[in-house]
Amino acid sequence: MTPHPLDRIPPYVFYELDARRAAMRAKGRTLIDVGIGSPDGPMPEVVVQALREVAGDRSVAGYPHFQAHPEYAEAVTQYLEARFGVSVDPARELLALAGSKEGIAELLLAHCGPGDVVLIPEVYYPVYARATQLAGAEPVFVPFARDGGLELDAIAGDVLARARVLLINYPGNPTTQAVSLTELARYVAFAEVHDLLLLSDLAYSELSYDGFVVPSVLQVPGASRVAVETHTCSKSFSMAGVRIAFVVGKAEAISRLDAYRSNIGYGVSTVAQLAGAAAFRHHAALVPETVARYRSRRDVVAAALQRGAWAVEAPRATMYFWLDVPAGVDDWVWVDALMEGPGVVVTPGIAFGAAGRGKFRISLVQPEALLEEAVDGLVAVRRAFV
Ligand SMILES: Cc1ncc(COP(=O)(O)O)c(C=O)c1O
Repeated sequence: MTPHPLDRIPPYVFYELDARRAAMRAKGRTLIDVGIGSPDGPMPEVVVQALREVAGDRSVAGYPHFQAHPEYAEAVTQYLEARFGVSVDPARELLALAGSKEGIAELLLAHCGPGDVVLIPEVYYPVYARATQLAGAEPVFVPFARDGGLELDAIAGDVLARARVLLINYPGNPTTQAVSLTELARYVAFAEVHDLLLLSDLAYSELSYDGFVVPSVLQVPGASRVAVETHTCSKSFSMAGVRIAFVVGKAEAISRLDAYRSNIGYGVSTVAQLAGAAAFRHHAALVPETVARYRSRRDVVAAALQRGAWAVEAPRATMYFWLDVPAGVDDWVWVDALMEGPGVVVTPGIAFGAAGRGKFRISLVQPEALLEEAVDGLVAVRRAFV
């Protein structure tokens, strides 16, 4: 019997991390968890209010439509126009998603199968490779250039001939790297020449600092001929538990995703879409508060690292620091030493692919005082190793 693709996928590194964390907690240890990038909230009050109101709405009793709810479509369309100057036709170029992780997986499953290749940055959000494998397709990893862009020249000709999708993620998790619109235009041109679907994961569109404004691939003229982009409420509005996102761009890809999804489920929960509509309608007022919270945490972490003689550049986007494991120290030895010593949970770089070895990620998802305590712990353990 041919094995199911699931049987060939290695265990999720986060499962291993969860098991180690649970074992420590079972021993009564108090931990500071800066491992997973799960926002600590609170959700904006307008979103909470929308959730309360929608609970009493009779329309929620029925199944949601396959396409976006009109209120969500309108709020998202206006957001795209105001934030990026991008006009879209919501009937053809937009779908609501129950999270961008799910949406990216569904896009890959709808577009790829055995024999196909998906081009993925060499350090990546895990669903890119795992959904590719679930589709029976082959993930091929594209190295980063020094400036954080992708080394497209490194892709072999025979691989390119089989490639269906090129994935990009700027600002990137876990790398925090961001790129300019000019760089995005290079990917659009590449996708056009090689007949690829360009899939841009823009989960961190709003989390940027020091005057840097994150561009959308759809700002590149003609991008919607080849590109789709996923956006989410999870990070910008601390709504990861609501599961609301959207995908926008190339009409044929959207229609294919719609066809795929209609075979396996319904539209995205009306409750989630109306909460998402409230968030996008108020984005201009809400985003600065979120950004200010993360910027302040980022500055606290950067200062604490520098005090500990740990040379870092503060990231200009995302909610992460992507740091080096001390030279010569095994990744899991490092992770365990942090958990067992100061009780700090971090994510080993290998959770994001083999090229992440020798790195680890911390997430800015704790209050400043705890982040400072966590970094002091990191610094102390590092001193013991180097
Ligand atoms: C790069 C990236 N894409 C997508 C997601 C998932 O977002 P969502 O909550 O919309 O599924 C994350 C979550 O950490 C992420 O880091």
